[in-house]
Amino acid sequence: MADHVTIRKLADADIEKTVQLWLDCDLTRPWNDPRADIAQALKSGCAEILVATDKAGRILASVMVGDDGHRGWLYYVAVSPSQQGTGLGKRMIAAGEQWMAERGIQKSQLIIRAGNAKVRGFYESLGYGVQERVLMARWLDGRPLTP
Ligand SMILES: CC(C)(COP(=O)(O)OP(=O)(O)OC[C@H]1O[C@@H](n2cnc3c(N)ncnc32)[C@H](O)[C@@H]1OP(=O)(O)O)[C@@H](O)C(=O)NCCC(=O)NCCS
Repeated sequence: MADHVTIRKLADADIEKTVQLWLDCDLTRPWNDPRADIAQALKSGCAEILVATDKAGRILASVMVGDDGHRGWLYYVAVSPSQQGTGLGKRMIAAGEQWMAERGIQKSQLIIRAGNAKVRGFYESLGYGVQERVLMARWLDGRPLTP
């Protein structure tokens, strides 16, 4: 792992580098504007974006955590491709779970795409399990549901 990794809250100066990390990790989707997602999370008062930085200030990893008033949710879990497999993803999940625990949240949840066996293996190694549910959604502006 990179030396002297610090996990902290995202600052304004980190935004463009964090968006680039998400692009590098193929986490963005055409219907999710990452800058708008960041702005929404920061203004909500019930979410946080945590980033891992190295001594040079590079953004190595991220996690967006949210508290919906009942459960905690993880989004934008990303580790820079050059740092993957070094334990940083595990540390980001632990940091997100710590944020939840401090808010009294008892259950951490996340959504992955069916068939993403690689990411599923990562979460299973951290104690997460699959709960059979049907995820239902609707865009409030009435546009057709995205895949
Ligand atoms: C998924 C991702 C966050 C994992 O981060 P990482 O830094 O590579 O993972 P870590 O090195 O922290 O691995 C933590 C543990 O998970 C295990 N693990 C990782 N991938 C695994 C897999 N496919 N199957 C089984 N175990 C796996 C590791 O062996 C390690 O176990 P250990 O603690 O016993 O040694 C990272 O690969 C990534 O950013 N991928 C691209 C973006 C993405 O898909 N994000 C998830 C969106 S839901």
